[in-house]
Amino acid sequence: MDPAEFQSSPDAVGMSRRRLLGAAACGLVLPAALPRLAGAEVPARLLAGGASLTAQGAAVQRALHQIIDLPRVFDDPLAVAMLGADAAPSLQAAADRPSPGLRAYIAMRSRHAEDRLAEAVRRGVHQYVLLGAGLDSFACRNPHPGLRVFEVDHPATQQWKRRRLADAGIAAPVSMNFVPVDFESQRLDRQLTLHGFRFDKPAFFSMLGVVIYISEEALEQTLRVVAACAPGSGLTFSFTLPAHRLGDAARAARERSMAAVAKLGEPWITFLEPEALPSRLHAAGFSAVELLDGEAGNRLYFAGRSDGLRLAGSAQMATAWI
Ligand SMILES: C[S@@+](CC[C@H](N)C(=O)[O-])C[C@H]1O[C@@H](n2cnc3c(N)ncnc32)[C@H](O)[C@@H]1O
Repeated sequence: MDPAEFQSSPDAVGMSRRRLLGAAACGLVLPAALPRLAGAEVPARLLAGGASLTAQGAAVQRALHQIIDLPRVFDDPLAVAMLGADAAPSLQAAADRPSPGLRAYIAMRSRHAEDRLAEAVRRGVHQYVLLGAGLDSFACRNPHPGLRVFEVDHPATQQWKRRRLADAGIAAPVSMNFVPVDFESQRLDRQLTLHGFRFDKPAFFSMLGVVIYISEEALEQTLRVVAACAPGSGLTFSFTLPAHRLGDAARAARERSMAAVAKLGEPWITFLEPEALPSRLHAAGFSAVELLDGEAGNRLYFAGRSDGLRLAGSAQMATAWI
């Protein structure tokens, strides 16, 4: 996530808060009394055992999108339940200090991944791998008959997700496979194979909000594993521009955000230049590469809205096919 790169307006703050509390009053998600906690305290309180705090943050933004944005760019009927009642303070904190650009980006990248997945399924793909799945709920609302879903994540985050699912009473369908992998120290291909993934069949992969947290070496390894899949396979991922590509205000905000996430133990370490991606992805073994920046994403997903929800120019996604 790039929280502080995006500005929130006082109007948006008031509107989001009123609507969130309205949703709570309808019994949609939240208990009647919401304790107010500083945003940074919440995940630390909620999470234990080294699970990803940024996965919690992304899930909060997806849930908030379900509650306060109309029309929704991304429909996720499980997003709120996935967070659980414990997360009411973090939802409230996010509503009190909304980051519309960040929320738009998190909603859009999930929508884009699922749109591209649907394309891949139409072309005969029956395996979907979420790399760094976090609290993504796709596996539990999979609309594609016969599609097997592999959730790859850091073991601690995955344990936490399993607990979240159990606590929320959300059953893991038989098509859902948990694949614990630390990209920095474990072989993704080996772990996938161990859990029943077929490298001789095409697959679609998504990697949302992950690149920034893994080393260049781990990213390169991951790209090569995906590129070794059967023809017809594809990968969509979000990534973050280096600071020198940002304007002064965004660069200053980036520095503040970097200090904050580093304190949480999840420093941002890998930034990508979009212009360098096609040759890098071709070298890894992909044949077709498509880039989507904030402007293109706004045309595709946010045109004609009256609420001003939009991506910042720095939003970036890439999709590559074998
Ligand atoms: C910002 S969260 C994004 C989660 C999810 N994709 C989403 O959009 O909600 C980053 C995810 O990357 C995972 N991650 C970070 N470093 C990792 C590593 N070395 N190995 C495996 N997963 C990692 C975290 O566990 C977390 O689930």
